[in-house]
Amino acid sequence: MAQAITYRLKACGVLYNEHRTVNAKLAEVEPQLRPGSSAEAFAGGLSALVRTLERELPPHFAKEEEALFPVMESVTGRGFPPIEVMKAEHAYLVEHFEAVREAAAKLGRSPHAAEARSEAARHLFPLVGTLDQHIVKEDSVLLVMASEQLEATHDSKILRVFDEIDREGRRWG
Ligand SMILES: [Fe+2]
Ligand SMILES: [Fe+2]
Repeated sequence: MAQAITYRLKACGVLYNEHRTVNAKLAEVEPQLRPGSSAEAFAGGLSALVRTLERELPPHFAKEEEALFPVMESVTGRGFPPIEVMKAEHAYLVEHFEAVREAAAKLGRSPHAAEARSEAARHLFPLVGTLDQHIVKEDSVLLVMASEQLEATHDSKILRVFDEIDREGRRWG
């Protein structure tokens, strides 16, 4: 794995650590999600992936969209291209996640359902491939920029919203 990054802002460290949880699960289930894996292995891996992402991503995306991005935009101005790209990728990821979740539910009931497996496979690369690259871009570009542009007062403001989001919880669907 790439060397760990340390950011000046605590809020960036929080998001970075959450990325590690997602990366670890992606790496763990990857062998089960390969085309040649058995029906049971595929269904099991898919279900494990869905459970982790449905727990991790809604509060994580909220921390970025409701806390980090607006504070960065207060400095850069709205429409800052790197943030616009991240927001668009979030929407794209949610769309493919929902499709994968639906297929995973069908495979949970009948792991040999061929149509559900091909449906899952069709949405897996857009989901996993995009998520992987999304995390790389945030770790190596967005969080680095945030750490350079923002001040300690911004950091505490962002961390307060993070706490609220963790207290309230976030779910999709
Ligand atoms: Fe993100
Ligand atoms: Fe993120």
